[in-house]
Amino acid sequence: MDHRIRSLSEFSQTYEKSVENPEAFWEDIANSFRWRKKWDKVLKWDFKGPDVKWFINGKLNITENILDRHLETRGDQTAILWEPNDPDEQYQKISYKELYEKVCQFSNAMKANGIGRGDRVIIYMPMVPEAAVAMLACARIGAVHSVVFAGFSANALADRINDCEAKMVLTSDGNFRGAKTIEVKSVVDEALEKSSTVEKVIVFQRTKTPVTMKDGRDIWWHEAIDGVSLENEAEEMDSEDLLFILYTSGSTGKPKGVVHTCGGYMVYTYYSFLNVFQYDEGDIYWCTADVGWITGHSYIVYGPLLAGATTMMFEGVPTYPDAGRFWHACDKHKVNQFYTAPTAIRALEAHGLEPLEPYKLDSLKVIGSVGEPINEEAWHWYHLNVGKGNCPLVDTWWQTETGGIMISALAGITPVKPAHASLPLPGIQPIIVDREGKELTGRNIQGNLCVKFPWPSILRTTYGDHERCRQTYFSAYENLYFTGDGAKRDHDGYLRILGRVDDVINVSGHRMGTAEVENAIDEHPKVIESAVVGYPHDIKGQGIYAFVIAEGEGIEEEVRKTITELIGPIAKPDKIQLVKGLPKTRSGKIMRRILRKIASGEVADLGDTSTLLNPEIVEDIKSGKV
Ligand code: WT7
Repeated sequence: MDHRIRSLSEFSQTYEKSVENPEAFWEDIANSFRWRKKWDKVLKWDFKGPDVKWFINGKLNITENILDRHLETRGDQTAILWEPNDPDEQYQKISYKELYEKVCQFSNAMKANGIGRGDRVIIYMPMVPEAAVAMLACARIGAVHSVVFAGFSANALADRINDCEAKMVLTSDGNFRGAKTIEVKSVVDEALEKSSTVEKVIVFQRTKTPVTMKDGRDIWWHEAIDGVSLENEAEEMDSEDLLFILYTSGSTGKPKGVVHTCGGYMVYTYYSFLNVFQYDEGDIYWCTADVGWITGHSYIVYGPLLAGATTMMFEGVPTYPDAGRFWHACDKHKVNQFYTAPTAIRALEAHGLEPLEPYKLDSLKVIGSVGEPINEEAWHWYHLNVGKGNCPLVDTWWQTETGGIMISALAGITPVKPAHASLPLPGIQPIIVDREGKELTGRNIQGNLCVKFPWPSILRTTYGDHERCRQTYFSAYENLYFTGDGAKRDHDGYLRILGRVDDVINVSGHRMGTAEVENAIDEHPKVIESAVVGYPHDIKGQGIYAFVIAEGEGIEEEVRKTITELIGPIAKPDKIQLVKGLPKTRSGKIMRRILRKIASGEVADLGDTSTLLNPEIVEDIKSGKV
C-alpha cells in the first residue's frame, strides 16, 4: 500500500486521524512491511520511566524489508548510487540484487569472525558503499552497530568503543576528502590501545595508504569476503531489539549513546522519507550528510532503502575540486531530491553564483535542509539559485533522539515559509510550554519545544544508563519529551525552531556540548579553568568561543591541539580568549549568559552583574585584559 500523502486536504485528514487514534494509524503503516510475526499490541508507553515500546512482540528483520522484499520488484534497480571524492573516478551503481548479495556476504564474513546477535560493532569508515553494507550486515545478523564519524579523534573513538564494549571495528585504510588523504586505520590502532573489548578489525581498502595489520586481530575486507556465500538467512529480531547506538553530545561532558530499535525505527524512517521528500518511483534522491550522523542513518541508508528508492552517497566535500561540486553531481546523476545542511549552503553562497553557472539543475524537484535553523537569507539563496524558485524547500527539524523528521513541510503538499520548519508530520504531537511546563496554546507564542505523545522512532534509552535518558529528556516536564530546543508558533500557526536552550551548541549542524569542549581544554596541563559558549557565526551557524584561564601566555595553539586530539577538529574553538577569571555567582557557577553576550559582541547590555562574586572581572574580559 502506498502511504504517500498527495494533497493538502489528505494531509489534514491524515493528521487528524493520526492524533485521534495513533495506534490504528501506525499499525496501518506497519502492516505494509514484511514481518515474521505481527505484534500483539501496537504501543505501550509511559514517559516517566521512560518505557516506550512499539509493535510489541512483533518479529522481523529490517534488512528483509530493505533487501529481500525488493528483490522481485526492483532487483535490477539501483539502490545505492555512489559518487566518489574525485569526479574523474568511476561512479558506482549498486542494484538491490547486488546490495542484497553484498550484505549477505558481509554478514557471513562477520559471523565467521565471531560476531553474532547482540554484539556491538563500531563502524568507523569513509563514505563508501561498504559503510552502508556494514550497517545493513550488522542489522541482518542482529548485531548492534554504532557508527562513529570518521573525523573523530582516537580518544573520542576509544570512548565510544569502551562505552558500548564493542567486539569488532569496521574501518578503512584511509579516507579521501577533497585534496587530502586522511589516515583512518592508524587512528583505530591508537584507539585500540585504550580499549580491551575489540577482538577483530576488518579493514576496507580505499586509499592504499600503508597500514600495519595486527596479526590475529586485523583482516582485510576483501580477504574476509573472499569465497564467502552470497546468501544469508536473516536473524529474527524482536521489534524492540536494539538496531543501533549513535553517540551524540549533550549538556554534560560525556557523549551519550542514543538507542534505536528495529520495528519502530523502520516504520518511521520509511514513512517520513516518503512523505517529506515526496519520493516518486525512479527518482534519484541525494542526501549529502555523512553516515556518521543520524541524518545519514535515517535518510541515506534506512528510510530511502526501505522505500525502495535510489539513494546517492557522496564521498567528497562540497568545495572539491571546486565550489560547483554539488551542482555538478546533481546534473551528472539527474538528482531529483537534494537534502543538505544550512552550513553547506552558506559556505557555497560565499563563493558567489559563478560556480552554479555551468549547471542546469533542472532535474531537481525538491530541496531540503537539516541540522540547524536555516536563516532567511540562506533560505532564499538556496530556493532561488538551487531550486530555481520552483522546488519546494523543506526545512526539516528533528534530532538524533527522534530518529526521523518530526516537523517539516511535505514537499509541494503543505505550504512552506522561509526559516520555518512549519508543521508536524502525521503522528507527531509537538507542544510549546512555558518554564513551568504549562502548554502555550494559540498563535504568536514562544517557549520550549516538547512532544506529548510517543512516535515509533523515539529513542528508547541511552546505552547503559537509562537514568540519564530519563533525566535528560523526560524529567524537565512531567509526561513530556523535552527536545532541548526553543520554538515559536507564529501568527499563521507555523512552527519556527529558535535553537537550543541548554548548554549544547550547534556548529555547522553538528552538536557539541560546551562541557565536553571544556573538559578537553581543561586537560591541557597549563589550563586552570575554561568556559565555552556559542556565538553567531556567518557560515557555521554557531562558532565556538572559549574563555580560558591558564598559566603563561600564548598557549592558544596548544589548546586547539589538545581539543583536536581529545575530540577531533570539529570541536576546535574559533576563538580562544585568555582571561584572568570567569564571572561566577556566589555559589561558584559560571554565568554563561554574560560570556555569551561578550562572545556575541553584545557588550553594551550585559544585564544584571550585581549578583556576581567578582563583577570586576567582566570589565577585564570585555577589554581583553589577561
Ligand atoms: C538539533 C539536533 C537531525 C539531524 C541533524 C542534527 C537542531 C536540527 C533543525 C532545523 C532548526 C534544527 C536542533 C536539534 N536542528 N534540524 N531544521 N531547524 N534546528 O541532529 O545532532 O541530533 O541535533 O539540531 O537544535 O535539537 P542532532
